[in-house]
Amino acid sequence: MDPEKFAKYCLSIVVLISLVVVVNASSLPSSRRSKYEILKQINRNGPYIGLITVYAPEETAFFGNGAFKPNPNHPFVDLSGRRFKIGKVHDKKVIYVRCGIGMVNAAAATQQMVDLFNVAGIVHFGIAGNVNNSMSIGDVSIPKQLADTGLWDWVNPNGTLDSTDVAHLEIETYNVPKGGENLLGSIGYMQEQFFSASGKPNVSQPLFWIHVNQQWLQVASKLERMDNLLERCVNSSLCLPEKPKVVVGLRGATANIFVDNAAYRDYLFNTFHISSNDMESAAVVMTSVSNGFPVIVIRGLSDLAGGQSGQNGIQTFGSLAARNTANVVVQFLKELKT
Ligand SMILES: *[C@@H]1O[C@H](CO)[C@@H](O)[C@H](O)[C@H]1NC(C)=O
Ligand SMILES: *[C@@H]1O[C@H](CO)[C@@H](O)[C@H](O)[C@H]1NC(C)=O
Ligand SMILES: *[C@@H]1O[C@H](CO)[C@@H](O)[C@H](O)[C@H]1NC(C)=O
Ligand SMILES: *[C@@H]1O[C@H](CO)[C@@H](O)[C@H](O)[C@H]1NC(C)=O
Repeated sequence: MDPEKFAKYCLSIVVLISLVVVVNASSLPSSRRSKYEILKQINRNGPYIGLITVYAPEETAFFGNGAFKPNPNHPFVDLSGRRFKIGKVHDKKVIYVRCGIGMVNAAAATQQMVDLFNVAGIVHFGIAGNVNNSMSIGDVSIPKQLADTGLWDWVNPNGTLDSTDVAHLEIETYNVPKGGENLLGSIGYMQEQFFSASGKPNVSQPLFWIHVNQQWLQVASKLERMDNLLERCVNSSLCLPEKPKVVVGLRGATANIFVDNAAYRDYLFNTFHISSNDMESAAVVMTSVSNGFPVIVIRGLSDLAGGQSGQNGIQTFGSLAARNTANVVVQFLKELKT
């Protein structure tokens, strides 16, 4: 092959390869590509407030409220099996998603929300267990800080817990009758490793209490004084003994555990001074703050987390707690200045 021919040959190979590369890049993930086109269009109309709730009864209550108006052009986009709904609540543009139960779902959906959508912040809401005897079912708690109480050291009866653990639970102190050893030993509550966009890259900080956004909490504190925001009756024949209230600034805990146990409920209250207990909030807050986004948590109390006599109240009062939560979310969005 003469040099000129060889050069032409090489050039055609280069052209062919680049063609293949271009064709591949544009055609291979076509469903994805069209999704990103849609996302682009949606995001051009932002910023939105990201709304993240957990499971079906909360979703039913939120849409039952009637304040959400879907976007007629792009009512939703499906990502990783979750449906992100685009719309408005009053004058606020919102993107809503139901993340699913537990901290993995909560963190994954939150990260998608902040990575893929043009959002200004996250409003997380749902129902929760009430562990504070001065609160009642039907009340709505907007905590100032949350902790992951599900990251454990679990050691033998004579084992040594880590000195950096923030709290200890000796299982044998719960033996009935008292005394003797308990082979389940003891549990130490570990801190999270918090990575943050504003921190040093590649370096995590130990963190137990994570705070919601202070300005948004101030906006929320207006809701404490509003009458008629919360409903009192499940239906015509079943009402709460007292008028429910919105309480801003308490503490909440999150773990991948549905707590329905009086002894553990008391432990959580006495040890961490929390009022609400759920399975997602700390994960949503940690993920939002990690990425530098404002976040607030709105949780309606649906049950006593095991403190009741008889059956857990979530079956009876869950729908009322979810409605009250939705009412507070909608009012918060109304008050929010963007
Ligand atoms: C723990 O230590 C006590 C006292 O030293 C001992 O009697 C007991 O057998 C130990 N328990 C276990 C499970 O090792
Ligand atoms: C990242 O952090 C790890 C753990 O502290 C350390 O071993 C590693 O050298 C760090 N890498 C860089 C590039 O800073
Ligand atoms: C329990 O709830 C009451 C009423 O809202 C509140 O005043 C109190 O501070 C709460 N307790 C704790 C430990 O947060
Ligand atoms: C009201 O709700 C309770 C609890 O779910 C139920 O037992 C009762 O039958 C309901 N009453 C009416 C009139 O719907």
